[in-house]
Amino acid sequence: MKTLVIGTGGREHALALALSRDPAVTEVHAAPGNPGIAAVATLHAVDPLDPTAVASLAASLGVDLVVVGPEAPLVAGVADAVRERGISCFGPSGEAAQLEGSKAFAKDVMAAAEVPTAMAHVCTTPEQVEAALDAFGPPYVVKDDGLAAGKGVVVTSDRVEAVAHAAGCERVVIEEYLDGPEVSLFAITDGSTVYPLQPAQDFKRISDGDEGPNTGGMGAYTPLPWAPAGLVAEVLERVLQPTVDELARRGTVFSGLLYAGLALTKRGVKVVEFNARFGDPETQPLLALLDSPLAALLKGAADGKLHEVEPPRWKPGAAVAVVMASAGYPASSHSGDVISGIESAGCDVIHAGTALVDDALVTAGGRVLAVTAVGEDLADARARAYDGVAAIRFDGAQYRTDIAAKAAGEVRS
Ligand code: AMP
Ligand code: GLY
Repeated sequence: MKTLVIGTGGREHALALALSRDPAVTEVHAAPGNPGIAAVATLHAVDPLDPTAVASLAASLGVDLVVVGPEAPLVAGVADAVRERGISCFGPSGEAAQLEGSKAFAKDVMAAAEVPTAMAHVCTTPEQVEAALDAFGPPYVVKDDGLAAGKGVVVTSDRVEAVAHAAGCERVVIEEYLDGPEVSLFAITDGSTVYPLQPAQDFKRISDGDEGPNTGGMGAYTPLPWAPAGLVAEVLERVLQPTVDELARRGTVFSGLLYAGLALTKRGVKVVEFNARFGDPETQPLLALLDSPLAALLKGAADGKLHEVEPPRWKPGAAVAVVMASAGYPASSHSGDVISGIESAGCDVIHAGTALVDDALVTAGGRVLAVTAVGEDLADARARAYDGVAAIRFDGAQYRTDIAAKAAGEVRS
């Protein structure tokens, strides 16, 4: 099978790496890619937001499967354009990707499917905003309705900050605060069959102990030894399947990766958000631990034949990814710092924001690398990932030291 991965980040590197290790895959192409992806795929220049350009590239390469990594190309209709050329594409249509692209649309689908989520008000005027903030009280959760690349959500007890964030959005969703540990549960679906993956957890704040500002994600691990037994079955029955079925009922079939961001509250599991693509960095440890060949699952989903493919199997043990970010992240980022030591890391080093300048590998973005290791258990995987981190150097490198520490039993809660 010839494959083409669209995107430039860590998630796309993890996908391309897993495809390159799949015996059924004869060629891996990627566009635009990054220097890490170049080691496992042939790179091509393309504007990932241009549906016609992506579809033409896929046709000219003669690929059997296109995998669209990030949300923005999906919302722009890249998967639609690829399918119109008769090429299989893993990723939802532009319309179905509104599940991530519009918080208000997601809330509407959840209400219709009776999926448990935070109570929410959609507001377009300052008066509605004030009334919704009064109704829920602090901590306030204020979400820009549109795609905001991880910057759209403010959770704060400061009313002035909440009002200011709302004022900067055209349409805003204000919702009830959900208290409890967060779990990322991904499912591969063809629009009717739904195969959940193992639960994973990511670490959104920049600093140890969940301090400091939100980021795109500073690390992740799987599985979750602390998660209640039956969690996956419950989420499949109450969240994933009803959402997929409701979208099909509306004629907006969702195929691809359905990402449920969940809060395990005292009053049960609730959806914090849906995404329409693999999460980053959770994808790195998940794909490291996936025992099934990836291409058949993605192609089965793309072709509406997922039921013909065996459900995902997992290797024993655990996997941990630790993100190394550049100086200034998340407020800014620093490019051009020379990276060394990757070859001595002893595990998979996934590239998120790197570039080659005069043959030197340098930082090129906020999140730079995700150092990803598999181990016998979480403590072992964690030790291996941090050995990898210790081998890698660049000026201003920032990383958390507590990824998966609590789950591995290394710190008291
Ligand atoms: P989202 O983009 O919707 O995932 O929100 C980003 C992050 O904000 C989530 O991962 C949560 O940590 C936090 N968050 C979002 N919605 C809520 C909520 N209703 N209650 C508490 N925290 C939330
Ligand atoms: N891990 C968070 C995200 O991918 O949105």
